[in-house]
Amino acid sequence: MVVRNRRNLTSVSTDRTAHTNPFVPGFGSTPPALVGREAEFADIEAMIGRVRQGIYEQPRLLVGERGLGKTALLIEVTVWARRQRLWQVDLQAAETGDLTPHLMRDLREHLLAHDRDARVVDLVRRALRVLSSFSVTYGVGVKLDLTKESGRADTGDLATDLGDVLIATCQAARSVGTALLVTVDEVQKMPGPQLEALLTAVQRVYKDRSDPRANLPFALIAAGLPDALDTIRHLGGTFGERVRVHELDMLSVPETIEALVIPARERSVRWDGDALDRLALRTGGWPVAVQQYGYDAWNAGTGSLIASTEVERALITAERALDRIYAGRLRDTTDRQRAYLQAMAGLPAAERTSAAVAKRLGSTSRAWGSTRDGLIRSGLIRPDGYGRAAFTLPGFEDFLHRS
Ligand SMILES: Nc1ncnc2c1ncn2[C@@H]1O[C@H](COP(=O)(O)OP(=O)(O)O)[C@@H](O)[C@H]1O
Ligand SMILES: [Mg+2]
Repeated sequence: MVVRNRRNLTSVSTDRTAHTNPFVPGFGSTPPALVGREAEFADIEAMIGRVRQGIYEQPRLLVGERGLGKTALLIEVTVWARRQRLWQVDLQAAETGDLTPHLMRDLREHLLAHDRDARVVDLVRRALRVLSSFSVTYGVGVKLDLTKESGRADTGDLATDLGDVLIATCQAARSVGTALLVTVDEVQKMPGPQLEALLTAVQRVYKDRSDPRANLPFALIAAGLPDALDTIRHLGGTFGERVRVHELDMLSVPETIEALVIPARERSVRWDGDALDRLALRTGGWPVAVQQYGYDAWNAGTGSLIASTEVERALITAERALDRIYAGRLRDTTDRQRAYLQAMAGLPAAERTSAAVAKRLGSTSRAWGSTRDGLIRSGLIRPDGYGRAAFTLPGFEDFLHRS
């Protein structure tokens, strides 16, 4: 089943050209058919429905390897949230840079949109004054023609002041019958002190009892690589225990086929059945690979049937394109981790036990234990029963053999 299929095709063309290619290789785009994320989406929908009623809901964390569709799912959620008239802020974390200017700008937008509403003006005005205090305290440079709210967002402690801002904004959101949704993508990239301040501020929002019968209408969804949860547990105190984690899986074979067939069908293009099966298997259900293989197969010909020979060519070109992602992942590893991965790749899949890999490296599993753990934490390999480990990313092993 397809969660949503937003691409609105006004003119259906049977042309199969590079211009009409519906597939979207790379990261951070909206796929032509977002498949297989119904459970996660339904959970988030329910969470927001409850939050709006003042019921407490845990923050959500979407985790998964690169290319599993974390950003795509976040985009889907934010598009939906906008239609629900939620106040929403999408933060994109980076190693450098400060998220607060973006946060303040977006909160101000939502508040200003209600500033003329006579019924609610008090709490909205107050939230804007708290924002003013924050902007002055941190020199954020968000333009606000208001006096400051004294004693709010002016301590100089980021966690406290951010908490003041979020609480005041949520109170204003409640007064207009909506909720505040904050999403943070690539959360593992966020500098430690900032993440810590954000999590502490969010804890305060959860604890607020300005209305004794209800929680503030606030929802947080973060997304990141598999080790993001460790980072959050490490920094966030009890926050790490509260967060509900969704580990995104590879797409199943039927889902993969849907992701390939639906966009083609919308342009009156069909797949050769056997070739489609072969291609779907090769992607391993890894969404970024599904798009890449789909894209290359589309571009390998011009007929209304994506033929077997065309798929054969795509199997080669798409693999080369994915090499850049594999290489990027490899760059993130240490020398020892790379040695471990190569040793693993040198063994048949069924024999990749800690002992056998260590032996290949001329040592003991104990000596390589922390290297193996680090690779598991980072998501590149996963335990596979009986002391064995397996590669997580489809095609990664072939890449190691090639490189
Ligand atoms: N559920 C899905 N079905 C089909 N394609 C998807 C799905 N999720 C993501 N994609 C596609 O896969 C690629 C990688 O997705 P992205 O969200 O950027 O991954 P991540 O953020 O986990 O690294 C994008 O091109 C996106 O369009
Ligand atoms: Mg992403």
